This record gives sequence, structure tokens and C-alpha cells, in this order.
Amino acid sequence: MPETPQDVLELLQTLLQRAYAPYSRYSVAAVVRSKSGRLYGGVNVENAAYPLSRCAEQSAVLQMVSAGEREIAEVWVMSRGQRPATPCGGCRQVLIEFAPPSLPVHCLSSEGTALHITLGELLPYSFTRSYLEED
Ligand code: THU
Repeated sequence: MPETPQDVLELLQTLLQRAYAPYSRYSVAAVVRSKSGRLYGGVNVENAAYPLSRCAEQSAVLQMVSAGEREIAEVWVMSRGQRPATPCGGCRQVLIEFAPPSLPVHCLSSEGTALHITLGELLPYSFTRSYLEED
């Protein structure tokens, strides 16, 4: 089972405190490591108009793309409680836009349990830009 690097763990724990989740009270933090090795973090940001809420993974990917990078090499998700949250369906689709199916996805709970899986396992038969490029 892969050990989470200490800098990633500290970043996730810091981010988890910054999650804005007054409605669900379910805090989530995400860190993506890009191809260049840089780390980008994000948290869930909820809204009184519920559908406008943003997931942590999407916040982290937006940070990476806004910084000029487009390839995710690894992702960590940390959620509060005992059970590690897996990325929701929408987040899986956002991740596959910038990552291969072999992307390692590490789901960690704030209480120390973990699930290590790949994006391809979470999102088989994914719809990607390759479909749009076919004649
Ligand atoms: N949430 C995430 O941030 N990432 C996920 O992949 C699952 C769900 C957030 C969205 C919402 O703010 C809260 O968790 C409860 O659904």
C-alpha cells in the first residue's frame, strides 16, 4: 500500500480545514500532482444555490489548469470521517480529461483509512476527446 508523502499529507490536512461545506457538513480536500511534479490543492466549495457547489477534485484540477499545466500524474482525496470518499461521477469525468486510465487515485479518510485505486477502475469505458476526433 503506497505511503502518502508527508508534504501531501500536510497539505491535505490543511486544506480539509478550509473546505466550505456549511450545508452538507462534509468536508473534502484534494491534491493533484502534475506531470511537472507540482502540487495543486482544492476543497469543496458549497453554495446556498446547491447545484452551484464545487467538488474538491474539480477545484484542484482548475488550479492546475489555471497554472498552465494539463497532465495529472497522481491524485489524493481526503474526506472527513471513517470512510474514504471516492471521487463522484462528475469528478471522475473531469479527471479523465487530464489523466490516463492508469492514474493512481488515493482516497484517504481523516481517520486514517485508505482506498488505492486507478481512475480506469473508477471510470471504465470513459468518454474522452478521442471520440470527438474520429471521422
Ligand atoms: N464532494 C467532493 O468534494 N468530492 C467528491 O468527489 C464527492 C463529494 C463534496 C461535494 C459536497 O460539497 C459534499 O462533498 C457532499 O456531497
